[in-house]
Amino acid sequence: MILITGGAGFIGSNFVLDWLAQCDESVVNLDKLTYAGNQENLASLSADPRHIFVQGDIGDAALVASLLAQHQPRAVLNFAAESHVDRSIHGPEDFIQTNIVGTFHLLEAVRAYWGNLPAQQKTEFRFLHVSTDEVYGSLGPSDAAFTEDHRYQPNSPYSASKAASDHLVRAYHHTYGLPVLTTNCSNNYGPYHFPEKLIPLLIVNALAGKALPVYGDGQQVRDWLYVKDHCSAIRRVLQAGRLGEVYNVGGWNEKANIEIVHTVCALLDELRPRADGVAYQSQIRYVTDRPGHDRRYAIDARKIQSELGWKPAETFDSGIRKTVQWYLDNPGWAERVQSGAYREWVKTQYQAAA
Ligand code: NAD
Ligand code: DAU
Repeated sequence: MILITGGAGFIGSNFVLDWLAQCDESVVNLDKLTYAGNQENLASLSADPRHIFVQGDIGDAALVASLLAQHQPRAVLNFAAESHVDRSIHGPEDFIQTNIVGTFHLLEAVRAYWGNLPAQQKTEFRFLHVSTDEVYGSLGPSDAAFTEDHRYQPNSPYSASKAASDHLVRAYHHTYGLPVLTTNCSNNYGPYHFPEKLIPLLIVNALAGKALPVYGDGQQVRDWLYVKDHCSAIRRVLQAGRLGEVYNVGGWNEKANIEIVHTVCALLDELRPRADGVAYQSQIRYVTDRPGHDRRYAIDARKIQSELGWKPAETFDSGIRKTVQWYLDNPGWAERVQSGAYREWVKTQYQAAA
């Protein structure tokens, strides 16, 4: 049994689906179901006894303690977070509350549980914290990619809150001996990505005939990784990562935002051309830049490759094609997210089955 937090979000739900497709070890999935949590992502598991969904907050120490006592997991994987940079600029408080205070309460509950485990289970237990490359700040055009030793220089309320959570996780290892692992990953893309983030927003807006907003000059660089490759990296770190270590995760796929926009437009021109024959690029609009916008992220993924033998299975070309195709094949998912109907998904399903 493992306990994961934030498993109804983009990466967490992909992780749960992949985990249960590959092994029979049950998952307790603790998720608050904020706007970013969508139980429809887990619809295929609705009758699967290996998946136990619990709606709740990682900051609710009593709830977490009771889940740990009841299910006795061998590992806790923390995906739960407020994750969108633009939202953190408009309203940082939720980010402080979940990413910092919530992680603190989660660590406290896990420390108490772990401290009382019998010797062998105590040795085998793991707390894996899922973090981001944004904690390292912004790179210049010719700077070397982020290694695990790069100085923390977070620039947004989101990245500052994730940096704080990383420091707490590190401190719980050094001070209390909690067996922790931390992963810092680059930008993910793939199925179930909430259409407030660049790639899914481009796809749904393009199909709806809406503007494709490009912040500033569109020359900011992100390092893109297909979400299933991030999930395989987390599984590998959980299995063989060295205690207290940090592993950077990335696919050596640096792209300027404008290149991403052109790639998505070209794929849609091929797979779902506009009825009027006009190229989707005609919908591109340059808009006001994000305040404090980081210019470039790039992950040096040599440590996880050399120590743990992990490398991504997808190239950017194969991953982005699968992603665009997934959105074309699942228009109902995106519609329900955009209309807000996804928040009623469980109720609707229950009524339909009754
Ligand atoms: P997401 O916003 O899609 O999902 C977050 C999930 O956490 C949601 O299901 C939400 O309901 C849940 N949640 C939020 N607050 C909670 C709380 N207090 N208690 C319990 N559940 C709560 O995020 P994502 O993109 O899937 O990211 C998952 C993790 O991976 C985050 O920690 C993020 O910082 C990290 N990360 C994301 C990316 C990326 O490109 N998306 C890259 C690197 C790291
Ligand atoms: O690097 C990892 C991070 O990647 C994760 O930690 C975050 O949780 C995740 O949201 C993501 O952050 P970004 O800010 O890089 O992702 P986003 O999709 O919001 O934006 C990607 C780039 O595209 C960024 O440079 C801003 C730009 N952008 C974004 C949107 C939504 C646009 O130009 N237009 C847009 O409409």
